[in-house]
Amino acid sequence: MGFKVAIVGATGAVGVEFLKVLERRNFPVDELVLLASKRSAGTTLEFKGKTHMVTELTHGSFAGCHLALFSAGASVSRAYRESCVAAGCLMVDNSSAFRMEAGVPLVVPEVNPQQARKALRSQGGAGVIANPNCTTIIALLALNPLHRAVPIKRVVAATYQAASGAGHAAMEELLNSTRAYLDGKPYEPKVLPFPYAFNLFPHNSPMTASGYCEEELKLAKESVKILDDPSVKITGTCVRVPVLRTHAEALNIEFTRELSVERAYELLGKAPGVTVLEDRARNRWPMPVDVAGKDDVYVGRLRKDHTQDNTLDVWVVGDQLLKGAALNAVQCAEAALLG
Ligand code: A2P
Repeated sequence: MGFKVAIVGATGAVGVEFLKVLERRNFPVDELVLLASKRSAGTTLEFKGKTHMVTELTHGSFAGCHLALFSAGASVSRAYRESCVAAGCLMVDNSSAFRMEAGVPLVVPEVNPQQARKALRSQGGAGVIANPNCTTIIALLALNPLHRAVPIKRVVAATYQAASGAGHAAMEELLNSTRAYLDGKPYEPKVLPFPYAFNLFPHNSPMTASGYCEEELKLAKESVKILDDPSVKITGTCVRVPVLRTHAEALNIEFTRELSVERAYELLGKAPGVTVLEDRARNRWPMPVDVAGKDDVYVGRLRKDHTQDNTLDVWVVGDQLLKGAALNAVQCAEAALLG
């Protein structure tokens, strides 16, 4: 038996990846409902060789649906949660709307797959699975296998984040502003707050009274919820860099006791969803060009921090649109509905 699947935000950067991931993983889709704003109603998208029409999202869109994958921003998720869940449809939400809500599982299937089924209404759940922040997912693919072996005390993260996290329009802005720069033409930023071509800036998510931007707080708070371990402390500086779709993260990880570099390589080498890629002799480590379009999160450059005991530095790179968003969401749906 297959499922009737709705995609909310089907025309967006993550939306089109939902379609590709469902097709590639052969998720049992019987019927597909592609939803976006009024602006794109009537446009078409391909799925398994067939053309499907995009329709405008309404409160009646979820009739008969079993699964809805949402990536149209937090306000759309908040506005349509009730109609989705009331229709008996499992909502897997890529926005930040419900991630920290008690009773809503926040799932990375390599870390806490058992939480996914807790979302099902048949099991008394809220009918919603929250897909974590992209930077959080990518970091946790590397942190979790190490933490399970030797508990982590503290992580200091520096992130190098791609345009795709701000949606399709931000990717276009990176391309267009780069073209304008090379042509010596002026370019007025429209999507991101600052010039993006040949530039970088601290993450543009809202600033909070603490001095951290929201992205940095998401990394700290969501990681604790997913690991289900408040003893793990994370501080970070998130930076937007002119890369299209792949995030990189430098993680300085302090453990409660010693974890050797060799053992850490061994743990990451057999961790699901992780590929170790490096060549010390050539000083060659994972880069966005290696990882864009790949399902796995790539790690390398493990080394002992020479300033502090029990501490390792790790370099982590993941495709923001795949493991950071669409792939993780589809894996959550698989864990809940097929697991
Ligand atoms: P549309 O293409 O009609 O604007 P991205 O993350 O790449 O910016 O994409 C956002 C997605 O969310 C797009 O598919 C967009 O549709 C959709 N979207 C934005 N606002 C709404 C809305 N109010 N109702 C339904 N879909 C929306």
